[in-house]
Amino acid sequence: MLEDLRALRERLCAELHAITSLRELEEFRLRHLVRRGTVGQLRERFRQLPAEQKPIVGRELHALEATIRQLYNELRQRLEAQAEEELTVDLSLPGRRAFLGGRHPIQQVLDEIVHIFTRMGFAVAEGPDIEDDEHNFTALNFPPEHPARDMQDTFFITPDRQILLRTHTSPVQIRLMRALKPPIRAIVPGRVYRNEEINPRSLAEFHQVEGLVVDRTTSFAELKGILIAFAQQLYGARTEYRFRPSFFPFTEPSAEMDIRCFLCHGAGCRVCKGNGWLEICGCGMVHPAVLRNGGVDPETYIGFAFGMGIERIVMLRLGLDDIRLLYQNELRLLRQFR
Ligand code: PHE
Repeated sequence: MLEDLRALRERLCAELHAITSLRELEEFRLRHLVRRGTVGQLRERFRQLPAEQKPIVGRELHALEATIRQLYNELRQRLEAQAEEELTVDLSLPGRRAFLGGRHPIQQVLDEIVHIFTRMGFAVAEGPDIEDDEHNFTALNFPPEHPARDMQDTFFITPDRQILLRTHTSPVQIRLMRALKPPIRAIVPGRVYRNEEINPRSLAEFHQVEGLVVDRTTSFAELKGILIAFAQQLYGARTEYRFRPSFFPFTEPSAEMDIRCFLCHGAGCRVCKGNGWLEICGCGMVHPAVLRNGGVDPETYIGFAFGMGIERIVMLRLGLDDIRLLYQNELRLLRQFR
């Protein structure tokens, strides 16, 4: 039997060496290492040996089993590691998509608004974020004691409060009138800054789109017509709207435009603060003093202007309840709105 054991050891070693896959290894195990396999049968034969042969043969049998099991385990580990590596290059898997950048939701809405107005004949203009008191307040007819001139609302850059971050896009009205001869028909998208407490509803930095029309003949009716056409394109053809009288130093008369809250359809909810309407923009006929400050003769020309905030529109679109989400560059959020 000793002879058999040695021959068997060689045969099993050779078999193991020839194995190249886990499947073959499993077949090897079932053939040799289970109770009814080769090794099990050897144990059976061993049990029937005469007692005096048992110590020598037993040692040999034990050594054989230990060697084969060790080789078997090593091979198994190697093949398993290899199989895992092969899994990582599974050519049948679909390709990995490269993530392309996208336009930010705020930019998407801005682009859409610009598109609607350019179709109605408006040009697109821009102005500087850093303004002076003259353009941001004085030329727009703000009286010296107006609350917007207070530290509370405005970020001043110089201690004399002459240079500041613009608090609205209206100073570009002055720049346009001073730079161009009427007729003027322009919109101005841009960033504005206010010294506000940062919370779910307001930020210290946001976007507005300003509109300005100056011509020999225009009217409050045209202003309304343009804003209604705009609202119906942006919010839907059946959008309900209303104009309320309001006040701005640079327009007279002034109004604010509301649309029906499209979340609760007028029933009253958290978004419209319970009154069923959402304010979307301020507007009015350009004040004669402002035309004059812009170098435009109010006897010959008449104008209207409007201004709207963008972030609110984006939040309603996206169903966000916290404006700060728009400024966190959170890819999990942004990727949903490409
Ligand atoms: N500038 C005003 C604001 O920031 C909006 C506005 C613009 C009102 C133009 C009337 C005309 O609230």
